[in-house]
Amino acid sequence: MTDRPSSSSVAPHDLFAHAPDRVSIYEVSPRDGLQNEQNVVPLAQKRQLVEALVAAGVKRLEITSFVSPKWVPQLADAEELAREMRPPEGVTFSALCPNAKGLERALATGLSEIAVFMSASETHNQKNINKSIDRTLSVFSEIVPPAIEAGLRVRGYVSCVWGCPYEGPVSAERSVEITKKLLSLGCYQVSLGDTIGVGTPKQTRDIVLRCLDAMRVDQFALHLHDTRGTALANILVGLELGVRDFDASVGGLGGCPYAPGAAGNVATEDLVYMLHGMGIETGIDLDKLIEAGNVAERVLGRPLPGKVHKAGAFRRRPS
Ligand code: HMG
Ligand code: MG
Repeated sequence: MTDRPSSSSVAPHDLFAHAPDRVSIYEVSPRDGLQNEQNVVPLAQKRQLVEALVAAGVKRLEITSFVSPKWVPQLADAEELAREMRPPEGVTFSALCPNAKGLERALATGLSEIAVFMSASETHNQKNINKSIDRTLSVFSEIVPPAIEAGLRVRGYVSCVWGCPYEGPVSAERSVEITKKLLSLGCYQVSLGDTIGVGTPKQTRDIVLRCLDAMRVDQFALHLHDTRGTALANILVGLELGVRDFDASVGGLGGCPYAPGAAGNVATEDLVYMLHGMGIETGIDLDKLIEAGNVAERVLGRPLPGKVHKAGAFRRRPS
C-alpha cells in the first residue's frame, strides 16, 4: 500500500492507486439486521446465523445490543446470546452499548468488545437514544474509560453522517468533530454511518478526505446502508482513498428502527464479491458466506435483498 493520500495528492487518474491489499469487514447482520425485523428471531436461530458467519471466515461480528428491551425487543436476549456464544480464537464478538446499564450487562457476559453509538444529527440522536448529543458525549465519557479499564475494546458509531431522516443535510465538519471526541475518549475506531443510505460518491469523497485530514485511516470505518443503491459506489470511493474498514450485513439485512426509511446495509456477499474481484483480500470464503446468507434467509423466512445472495458467485476461471 502506498502512503496515505491527502486532499491535494489524489488525481482522478490515480484510481485505485491507494486501495489497500486487504480489507477488514465488520459484520453487523445479527445486530443491525435482526433489530429491524418485525418478528423476534429465536435465540437458537441467532446462534445458527452467527456460527455460519464465523464458518465463512468473518472475524469481527456485532452479535447483539445491550439496549433497552422496551426500545428494541428483537434483541432482548442479548445476555443469553453473548453468554452462550464464545468466539473462536482470532474472532471478536461485539455488541452495542448506550449507557452504564448497557456496560454493566455487557461486562457480566464476558464479551471483549462493545460499541457506543450516537448520531451527528440532534433529532435522530434524541429519537434513537433519548438524549441530546452533549448529554450522550457526557454519558460516554463516564462509560468508555471504565470499559477500557475493565479490559474491553470500545468501538464507536456516528450515525446520519450523510443525512438525517428528520433534519436533512448534516454538517460533515460536525460529524468529524464528534468522531474525534469519541476517539479521544478511547474508542479504537469510529464507524461513520450512512444510516438512511442517501450518500453519493462526491459527498463520500468529501467526508473521507475530511477524516483523513483529522485522523489515521484505521481510526474510522464506513457503515453504509444501501437504501438507494449507492453503497458500493461509496465504498469504492473509500477504497480509492485507502479506507480499509467497512461494515456490512449478510444478505443486505439491516435498518435502524428509529430512522424511518433506513433499509439494509450493503450486503456482505456483494462487498466481498467486489473486493475479491479487485484482488483485495478479506479472509472470507464467498461460497460459505453465501451459505450464511441462506441460513439468514431460512431463519427469517423471506427473500433477502443482497444481489450476490440472489445471483450467486461467478467463477472467473473454470474450477
Ligand atoms: P431511556 O428510556 O431514556 O432510559 O432509554 P433511562 O435511562 O431513562 O431508563 C429507563 C428504563 O430503561 C429503566 O428501567 C432503565 O433501567 C432501563 P425502569 O427503571 O423503567 O424499569 N434501561 C435499560 N435496560 C436495559 N439495558 C439498557 C438500559 N438503559 C436503560 N442499556 C436508551 C435510553 C438508550 C436505553 C434507549 O433509548 C435505547 O435503548 N435506545 C436504543 C435504540 C437502538 O438500539 N437503536 C438502534 C441501534 S442504532 C443504529 O441502528 C445505527 C447504527 O447501525 C449505525 C448507523 O446505521 O448509522 C449503529
Ligand atoms: Mg446501521
